[in-house]
Amino acid sequence: MATLLLLFLIYDPTLSIFEKTPDNQVAIVDEDKIENGIHLRTGLKDAKGLMTVVNNCTNCHSAKLVIQNRMNKERWDATIRWMQETQNLWDLGENQQIIVDYLVTNYPVLEKSRRENLANITWYEIND
Ligand code: HEC
Repeated sequence: MATLLLLFLIYDPTLSIFEKTPDNQVAIVDEDKIENGIHLRTGLKDAKGLMTVVNNCTNCHSAKLVIQNRMNKERWDATIRWMQETQNLWDLGENQQIIVDYLVTNYPVLEKSRRENLANITWYEIND
């Protein structure tokens, strides 16, 4: 019984199932709520161009796919062109500049995203 209750609380932590919506009205959810600088629905950072990115880049796949890729302007333009040629992405017109600016500004290429090459290695012989 306790397990069931716990499972239920995990499933519905705010107990919203008991909330009554007056007159059967559908509650209006703020789809574009920002909290702590993050657009909650997508996880994207709140910055200039945010809604242009939300409206053009989160329709077919999650925003996670977008922001896990750190690219410079040229590579973003190429990725967009690839999606247009192969994935039915529409022509973005002037929005392309806004989107790419948003991405390179807020999700810049990480200078050291991987370990640097080893240098000054002293090799030694294993004597067996
Ligand atoms: C019309 C649908 C559609 C829209 C809109 C769209 N994409 Fe994509 N995108 C795709 C598909 C399909 C893939 C391939 C997904 C996969 O491999 O799972 C993809 C893949 C990607 C990738 C991964 C590319 C790689 O090399 O792995 C990135 C980054 C990306 N999209 C960014 C964007 C950005 C930025 C926008 C907004 C300009 C956007 N997408 C809008 C369809 C779309």
